[in-house]
Amino acid sequence: MNTKLTDHVFWVGHIDWAVRDFHGYTTSRGSTYNAYLVMAGKTALIDSVKAPYVAAFLENVKSHVPLDKIDYIVCNHAEPDHSGGLPATVKACPNATVLCNAKCRDALAHHYDVSGWKIQVVKDAETLALGGKTLQFFDTPMVHWPESMATYVVEDELLFSMDAFGQHYASGFRFDDESDLCEVMQEAKTYYANIVLPYGRPVAAALARLGGLKLKIVAPSHGVIWRSHFDKILAAYQAWMVCRPAKKVVIAYCSMWNSTHVMAEAVVAGAEELPVDVKLIDVNATSDTQVVTEVMDCAAFAVGSATLNMGLMPRMAATLTYLRGLKPVGKTCFAFGSYGWAPKGTEEVSQYLQAMQMTPACAPVVCRFAPDAETLAKCRAAGRALAEIAMKA
Ligand code: FEO
Repeated sequence: MNTKLTDHVFWVGHIDWAVRDFHGYTTSRGSTYNAYLVMAGKTALIDSVKAPYVAAFLENVKSHVPLDKIDYIVCNHAEPDHSGGLPATVKACPNATVLCNAKCRDALAHHYDVSGWKIQVVKDAETLALGGKTLQFFDTPMVHWPESMATYVVEDELLFSMDAFGQHYASGFRFDDESDLCEVMQEAKTYYANIVLPYGRPVAAALARLGGLKLKIVAPSHGVIWRSHFDKILAAYQAWMVCRPAKKVVIAYCSMWNSTHVMAEAVVAGAEELPVDVKLIDVNATSDTQVVTEVMDCAAFAVGSATLNMGLMPRMAATLTYLRGLKPVGKTCFAFGSYGWAPKGTEEVSQYLQAMQMTPACAPVVCRFAPDAETLAKCRAAGRALAEIAMKA
Protein backbone atom coordinates (compact mmCIF):
# COMPACT_ATOMS: atom_id res chain seq x y z
CA MET A 1 0.00 0.00 0.00
CA ASN A 2 1.35 3.40 -0.99
CA THR A 3 1.27 5.59 2.12
CA LYS A 4 3.71 8.27 0.99
CA LEU A 5 2.20 11.74 0.45
CA THR A 6 5.51 13.52 -0.10
CA ASP A 7 9.15 12.71 0.62
CA HIS A 8 8.61 13.68 4.25
CA VAL A 9 4.93 12.95 4.91
CA PHE A 10 3.33 9.52 5.42
CA TRP A 11 -0.15 8.15 6.19
CA VAL A 12 -0.06 6.13 9.42
CA GLY A 13 -3.80 5.75 10.16
CA HIS A 14 -6.12 2.77 10.44
CA ILE A 15 -8.54 1.21 7.94
CA ASP A 16 -11.81 0.19 9.62
CA TRP A 17 -13.26 -2.29 7.15
CA ALA A 18 -16.02 -3.52 9.47
CA VAL A 19 -17.68 -0.41 10.89
CA ARG A 20 -21.28 -0.13 9.73
CA ASP A 21 -22.70 2.24 12.35
CA PHE A 22 -20.96 5.53 13.05
CA HIS A 23 -23.14 7.17 15.71
CA GLY A 24 -26.21 6.32 13.67
CA TYR A 25 -24.67 6.97 10.25
CA THR A 26 -24.78 3.74 8.23
CA THR A 27 -21.24 3.36 6.91
CA SER A 28 -21.86 0.81 4.17
CA ARG A 29 -18.27 0.93 2.93
CA GLY A 30 -16.51 1.15 6.31
CA SER A 31 -14.16 4.01 7.10
CA THR A 32 -10.60 5.03 7.82
CA TYR A 33 -9.18 7.13 10.64
CA ASN A 34 -6.39 9.01 8.95
CA ALA A 35 -3.32 10.10 10.83
CA TYR A 36 -0.12 11.37 9.32
CA LEU A 37 3.56 11.67 10.10
CA VAL A 38 5.60 14.73 9.08
CA MET A 39 9.30 13.92 9.30
CA ALA A 40 11.56 16.96 9.03
CA GLY A 41 14.25 18.25 11.39
CA LYS A 42 11.64 17.56 14.03
CA THR A 43 8.88 14.99 13.75
CA ALA A 44 5.17 15.72 14.09
CA LEU A 45 2.33 13.24 14.29
CA ILE A 46 -0.91 14.64 12.91
CA ASP A 47 -3.86 13.27 14.92
CA SER A 48 -4.51 9.82 16.33
CA VAL A 49 -7.18 7.17 15.70
CA LYS A 50 -10.23 5.66 17.39
CA ALA A 51 -9.23 4.13 20.73
CA PRO A 52 -9.56 0.41 19.82
CA TYR A 53 -7.04 0.80 16.99
CA VAL A 54 -4.29 2.72 18.75
CA ALA A 55 -1.91 -0.26 19.08
CA ALA A 56 -1.96 -0.93 15.32
CA PHE A 57 -1.62 2.79 14.66
CA LEU A 58 1.48 3.05 16.89
CA GLU A 59 2.99 0.09 15.02
CA ASN A 60 2.47 2.06 11.79
CA VAL A 61 4.27 5.04 13.32
CA LYS A 62 7.10 2.85 14.62
CA SER A 63 7.69 1.49 11.14
CA HIS A 64 8.91 5.01 10.28
CA VAL A 65 10.39 6.37 13.49
CA PRO A 66 10.93 5.33 17.13
CA LEU A 67 8.18 6.74 19.30
CA ASP A 68 10.61 8.61 21.55
CA LYS A 69 11.64 10.63 18.48
CA ILE A 70 8.16 12.15 18.09
CA ASP A 71 8.43 15.82 19.03
CA TYR A 72 4.84 16.95 18.48
CA ILE A 73 1.38 15.44 18.30
CA VAL A 74 -1.03 17.79 16.56
CA CYS A 75 -4.65 17.37 17.64
CA ASN A 76 -6.84 18.99 15.00
CA HIS A 77 -10.15 17.78 16.46
CA ALA A 78 -11.23 16.38 19.83
CA GLU A 79 -13.95 14.04 18.54
CA PRO A 80 -13.06 10.54 19.77
CA ASP A 81 -12.71 8.99 16.31
CA HIS A 82 -9.52 11.08 16.11
CA SER A 83 -8.58 11.66 19.73
CA GLY A 84 -9.70 8.38 21.33
CA GLY A 85 -6.20 6.98 20.85
CA LEU A 86 -4.54 10.16 22.11
CA PRO A 87 -4.08 9.16 25.77
CA ALA A 88 -2.24 5.97 24.75
CA THR A 89 -0.31 7.87 22.09
CA VAL A 90 0.83 10.55 24.54
CA LYS A 91 1.91 7.83 26.95
CA ALA A 92 3.84 6.00 24.23
CA CYS A 93 5.62 9.14 22.99
CA PRO A 94 7.40 10.46 26.10
CA ASN A 95 9.05 13.42 24.37
CA ALA A 96 6.02 14.71 22.51
CA THR A 97 4.19 17.98 23.09
CA VAL A 98 0.51 18.07 22.10
CA LEU A 99 -0.28 21.03 19.84
CA CYS A 100 -3.88 22.20 19.67
CA ASN A 101 -5.98 25.35 19.91
CA ALA A 102 -7.45 26.58 23.19
CA LYS A 103 -10.92 25.18 22.54
CA CYS A 104 -9.45 21.79 21.75
CA ARG A 105 -7.36 21.84 24.94
CA ASP A 106 -10.57 22.42 26.91
CA ALA A 107 -12.45 19.72 25.02
CA LEU A 108 -9.62 17.21 25.55
CA ALA A 109 -9.63 17.99 29.28
CA HIS A 110 -13.34 17.10 29.37
CA HIS A 111 -12.70 13.81 27.60
CA TYR A 112 -9.46 12.59 29.19
CA ASP A 113 -7.15 12.97 32.15
CA VAL A 114 -4.64 15.38 30.59
CA SER A 115 -2.89 16.28 33.85
CA GLY A 116 0.42 14.71 32.78
CA TRP A 117 0.36 15.96 29.20
CA LYS A 118 2.64 18.63 27.75
CA ILE A 119 0.17 20.81 25.83
CA GLN A 120 1.12 23.85 23.76
CA VAL A 121 -1.75 26.01 22.55
CA VAL A 122 -1.42 27.32 19.00
CA LYS A 123 -3.24 30.34 17.67
CA ASP A 124 -5.02 30.76 14.37
CA ALA A 125 -2.47 31.19 11.49
CA GLU A 126 0.46 30.51 13.85
CA THR A 127 3.44 28.74 12.31
CA LEU A 128 5.83 26.20 13.73
CA ALA A 129 9.21 25.47 12.12
CA LEU A 130 10.12 21.79 12.19
CA GLY A 131 13.42 22.37 10.41
CA GLY A 132 12.97 22.14 6.64
CA LYS A 133 9.18 22.03 6.96
CA THR A 134 6.80 24.56 8.45
CA LEU A 135 3.42 23.76 9.96
CA GLN A 136 0.71 26.41 9.95
CA PHE A 137 -2.51 26.05 11.91
CA PHE A 138 -5.90 27.37 10.85
CA ASP A 139 -8.98 27.35 13.04
CA THR A 140 -12.00 26.01 11.15
CA PRO A 141 -14.75 26.29 13.78
CA MET A 142 -17.79 24.03 13.30
CA VAL A 143 -16.12 22.04 10.53
CA HIS A 144 -17.05 19.92 12.32
CA TRP A 145 -16.86 20.89 16.04
CA PRO A 146 -16.08 24.29 17.60
CA GLU A 147 -12.41 23.41 18.11
CA SER A 148 -11.81 21.96 14.63
CA MET A 149 -8.51 23.00 13.09
CA ALA A 150 -6.66 22.34 9.85
CA THR A 151 -2.88 22.05 9.60
CA TYR A 152 -0.90 23.13 6.54
CA VAL A 153 2.59 22.03 5.52
CA VAL A 154 3.74 25.23 3.86
CA GLU A 155 6.63 23.89 1.74
CA ASP A 156 4.63 20.88 0.49
CA GLU A 157 1.41 22.88 -0.14
CA LEU A 158 -0.31 20.09 1.75
CA LEU A 159 -3.39 20.64 3.94
CA PHE A 160 -4.53 18.22 6.64
CA SER A 161 -8.16 19.27 6.31
CA MET A 162 -9.62 17.20 9.16
CA ASP A 163 -13.28 16.22 8.55
CA ALA A 164 -13.63 18.54 5.53
CA PHE A 165 -13.48 16.65 2.21
CA GLY A 166 -13.59 13.30 4.04
CA GLN A 167 -15.46 10.13 3.22
CA HIS A 168 -16.39 7.07 5.26
CA TYR A 169 -14.72 4.75 2.77
CA ALA A 170 -12.48 1.79 3.59
CA SER A 171 -10.06 0.97 0.80
CA GLY A 172 -6.58 -0.41 0.28
CA PHE A 173 -5.87 2.71 -1.74
CA ARG A 174 -4.93 5.95 -0.03
CA PHE A 175 -5.22 8.38 -2.95
CA ASP A 176 -8.08 9.63 -5.13
CA ASP A 177 -6.32 8.78 -8.39
CA GLU A 178 -5.87 5.13 -7.32
CA SER A 179 -9.55 4.76 -6.41
CA ASP A 180 -12.93 4.42 -8.13
CA LEU A 181 -13.77 8.13 -8.24
CA CYS A 182 -17.54 7.53 -8.58
CA GLU A 183 -17.53 5.52 -5.34
CA VAL A 184 -15.37 8.12 -3.60
CA MET A 185 -17.60 11.02 -4.67
CA GLN A 186 -20.74 9.13 -3.62
CA GLU A 187 -19.25 8.49 -0.18
CA ALA A 188 -18.05 12.11 0.03
CA LYS A 189 -21.62 13.23 -0.68
CA THR A 190 -23.04 10.85 1.92
CA TYR A 191 -20.45 12.09 4.42
CA TYR A 192 -21.28 15.72 3.75
CA ALA A 193 -25.03 15.11 4.05
CA ASN A 194 -24.76 13.19 7.32
CA ILE A 195 -21.92 15.03 9.07
CA VAL A 196 -21.32 18.48 7.61
CA LEU A 197 -24.74 19.58 6.29
CA PRO A 198 -25.79 21.79 9.25
CA TYR A 199 -22.60 23.83 8.95
CA GLY A 200 -22.93 25.37 5.49
CA ARG A 201 -21.89 28.85 6.63
CA PRO A 202 -18.81 27.74 8.59
CA VAL A 203 -17.83 25.56 5.62
CA ALA A 204 -18.16 28.55 3.29
CA ALA A 205 -16.03 30.63 5.68
CA ALA A 206 -13.39 27.90 5.88
CA LEU A 207 -13.29 27.47 2.11
CA ALA A 208 -12.93 31.22 1.59
CA ARG A 209 -10.04 31.24 4.04
CA LEU A 210 -8.24 28.06 2.99
CA GLY A 211 -8.96 28.71 -0.68
CA GLY A 212 -6.23 31.33 -0.57
CA LEU A 213 -3.62 28.64 0.10
CA LYS A 214 -1.71 26.84 -2.60
CA LEU A 215 -2.97 23.27 -2.42
CA LYS A 216 -1.21 20.35 -4.07
CA ILE A 217 -2.54 17.75 -1.65
CA VAL A 218 -5.58 17.82 0.64
CA ALA A 219 -5.50 15.05 3.23
CA PRO A 220 -8.73 14.62 5.22
CA SER A 221 -9.25 12.63 8.38
CA HIS A 222 -11.39 9.96 6.69
CA GLY A 223 -11.15 8.23 3.32
CA VAL A 224 -8.86 8.89 0.41
CA ILE A 225 -6.41 11.77 0.01
CA TRP A 226 -7.02 14.32 -2.73
CA ARG A 227 -3.99 14.88 -4.95
CA SER A 228 -5.40 14.71 -8.51
CA HIS A 229 -9.12 15.51 -8.31
CA PHE A 230 -9.41 18.14 -5.60
CA ASP A 231 -11.17 20.40 -8.11
CA LYS A 232 -14.06 17.89 -8.23
CA ILE A 233 -14.62 17.68 -4.49
CA LEU A 234 -14.21 21.44 -4.14
CA ALA A 235 -16.86 22.07 -6.81
CA ALA A 236 -19.15 19.56 -5.10
CA TYR A 237 -18.69 21.33 -1.76
CA GLN A 238 -19.68 24.64 -3.37
CA ALA A 239 -23.02 23.02 -4.28
CA TRP A 240 -23.56 21.00 -1.11
CA MET A 241 -22.83 23.85 1.31
CA VAL A 242 -25.86 25.72 -0.02
CA CYS A 243 -27.97 22.56 -0.61
CA ARG A 244 -28.05 23.60 -4.27
CA PRO A 245 -31.15 21.84 -5.70
CA ALA A 246 -31.09 19.51 -8.67
CA LYS A 247 -34.10 18.78 -10.86
CA LYS A 248 -35.12 16.13 -8.40
CA VAL A 249 -38.23 15.19 -6.39
CA VAL A 250 -37.95 12.88 -3.39
CA ILE A 251 -41.06 11.15 -2.05
CA ALA A 252 -40.62 9.43 1.33
CA TYR A 253 -43.42 7.48 2.94
CA CYS A 254 -44.29 5.15 5.79
CA SER A 255 -47.46 3.14 5.31
CA MET A 256 -49.49 0.88 7.60
CA TRP A 257 -52.11 -0.87 5.44
CA ASN A 258 -50.80 0.31 2.06
CA SER A 259 -53.02 3.42 1.70
CA THR A 260 -50.19 5.92 2.20
CA HIS A 261 -48.07 3.83 -0.16
CA VAL A 262 -50.76 4.07 -2.86
CA MET A 263 -50.89 7.84 -2.31
CA ALA A 264 -47.10 8.01 -2.63
CA GLU A 265 -47.26 6.15 -5.95
CA ALA A 266 -49.79 8.74 -7.19
CA VAL A 267 -47.39 11.55 -6.21
CA VAL A 268 -44.67 9.72 -8.15
CA ALA A 269 -46.93 9.42 -11.20
CA GLY A 270 -47.59 13.16 -11.13
CA ALA A 271 -43.91 14.03 -10.76
CA GLU A 272 -42.99 11.69 -13.61
CA GLU A 273 -45.12 13.75 -15.99
CA LEU A 274 -42.07 15.99 -16.25
CA PRO A 275 -38.41 15.07 -16.96
CA VAL A 276 -37.14 15.25 -13.40
CA ASP A 277 -35.25 12.75 -11.27
CA VAL A 278 -37.88 11.06 -9.06
CA LYS A 279 -36.88 9.03 -6.01
CA LEU A 280 -39.49 7.02 -4.04
CA ILE A 281 -38.31 5.97 -0.57
CA ASP A 282 -40.01 3.59 1.84
CA VAL A 283 -38.39 4.64 5.10
CA ASN A 284 -38.98 1.15 6.50
CA ALA A 285 -36.59 -0.21 3.89
CA THR A 286 -34.08 2.63 3.70
CA SER A 287 -31.48 3.94 6.14
CA ASP A 288 -31.83 7.53 7.33
CA THR A 289 -28.28 7.97 6.02
CA GLN A 290 -29.54 7.34 2.49
CA VAL A 291 -32.66 9.46 2.98
CA VAL A 292 -30.78 12.60 3.99
CA THR A 293 -28.26 12.11 1.17
CA GLU A 294 -31.14 12.07 -1.35
CA VAL A 295 -32.88 15.04 0.26
CA MET A 296 -29.76 17.25 0.39
CA ASP A 297 -29.82 18.03 -3.33
CA CYS A 298 -33.52 17.65 -4.17
CA ALA A 299 -35.68 20.64 -5.08
CA ALA A 300 -38.91 19.18 -3.69
CA PHE A 301 -39.66 16.75 -0.91
CA ALA A 302 -42.97 14.96 -0.33
CA VAL A 303 -43.55 13.11 2.94
CA GLY A 304 -46.38 10.71 3.66
CA SER A 305 -47.24 8.92 6.88
CA ALA A 306 -50.12 6.88 8.09
CA THR A 307 -51.55 7.80 11.50
CA LEU A 308 -50.73 5.46 14.38
CA ASN A 309 -51.96 6.10 17.93
CA MET A 310 -52.82 9.73 17.11
CA GLY A 311 -49.41 10.51 15.67
CA LEU A 312 -47.15 9.80 12.74
CA MET A 313 -45.55 6.40 12.23
CA PRO A 314 -42.60 5.99 14.64
CA ARG A 315 -40.18 5.09 11.85
CA MET A 316 -41.08 8.26 9.95
CA ALA A 317 -40.73 10.25 13.18
CA ALA A 318 -37.17 8.92 13.51
CA THR A 319 -36.34 9.83 9.90
CA LEU A 320 -37.75 13.34 10.19
CA THR A 321 -36.07 13.93 13.56
CA TYR A 322 -32.72 12.97 12.03
CA LEU A 323 -33.35 15.12 8.97
CA ARG A 324 -34.47 18.12 11.02
CA GLY A 325 -31.18 18.06 12.95
CA LEU A 326 -29.19 18.17 9.73
CA LYS A 327 -31.06 21.29 8.55
CA PRO A 328 -31.44 20.93 4.78
CA VAL A 329 -32.45 24.30 3.35
CA GLY A 330 -34.38 25.67 0.38
CA LYS A 331 -36.83 22.82 -0.24
CA THR A 332 -40.44 22.88 -1.42
CA CYS A 333 -42.58 20.26 0.33
CA PHE A 334 -45.87 18.39 0.40
CA ALA A 335 -47.43 16.34 3.23
CA PHE A 336 -49.90 13.51 2.80
CA GLY A 337 -51.18 10.36 4.46
CA SER A 338 -54.07 8.18 5.57
CA TYR A 339 -55.85 8.01 8.91
CA GLY A 340 -58.69 6.21 10.67
CA TRP A 341 -60.14 8.66 13.20
CA ALA A 342 -58.11 11.89 12.90
CA PRO A 343 -55.37 12.93 10.44
CA LYS A 344 -52.77 13.37 13.16
CA GLY A 345 -49.94 11.68 11.25
CA THR A 346 -50.09 14.19 8.41
CA GLU A 347 -50.41 17.05 10.90
CA GLU A 348 -47.20 16.00 12.58
CA VAL A 349 -45.43 15.56 9.23
CA SER A 350 -46.45 19.14 8.36
CA GLN A 351 -45.02 20.35 11.67
CA TYR A 352 -41.67 18.71 10.92
CA LEU A 353 -41.57 20.23 7.43
CA GLN A 354 -42.46 23.64 8.84
CA ALA A 355 -39.71 23.32 11.45
CA MET A 356 -37.26 22.76 8.56
CA GLN A 357 -38.60 25.94 6.93
CA MET A 358 -39.69 24.06 3.84
CA THR A 359 -42.24 25.80 1.62
CA PRO A 360 -45.49 23.88 1.00
CA ALA A 361 -46.36 23.50 -2.69
CA CYS A 362 -50.02 22.99 -1.76
CA ALA A 363 -52.27 21.99 1.14
CA PRO A 364 -51.73 18.53 2.68
CA VAL A 365 -53.79 15.68 1.25
CA VAL A 366 -55.31 13.15 3.64
CA CYS A 367 -57.70 10.26 3.27
CA ARG A 368 -59.77 8.22 5.69
CA PHE A 369 -58.63 4.58 5.51
CA ALA A 370 -58.19 4.05 1.75
CA PRO A 371 -57.71 6.72 -0.94
CA ASP A 372 -60.48 7.21 -3.51
CA ALA A 373 -60.03 8.47 -7.05
CA GLU A 374 -60.40 12.09 -6.00
CA THR A 375 -57.69 11.76 -3.35
CA LEU A 376 -55.34 10.09 -5.79
CA ALA A 377 -55.97 12.83 -8.34
CA LYS A 378 -54.98 15.40 -5.70
CA CYS A 379 -51.80 13.45 -4.94
CA ARG A 380 -50.96 13.25 -8.62
CA ALA A 381 -51.53 16.99 -9.03
CA ALA A 382 -49.27 17.65 -6.06
CA GLY A 383 -46.56 15.45 -7.60
CA ARG A 384 -46.77 17.41 -10.84
CA ALA A 385 -46.60 20.71 -8.92
CA LEU A 386 -43.44 19.53 -7.17
CA ALA A 387 -41.91 18.54 -10.51
CA GLU A 388 -42.75 21.94 -12.00
CA ILE A 389 -40.83 23.57 -9.16
CA ALA A 390 -37.95 21.12 -9.61
CA MET A 391 -37.78 21.97 -13.33
CA LYS A 392 -36.83 25.52 -12.35
CA ALA A 393 -33.76 24.34 -10.41
FE1 FEO B 1 -14.21 12.40 12.10
FE2 FEO B 1 -15.82 15.12 13.57
O1 FEO B 1 -14.77 13.54 13.47
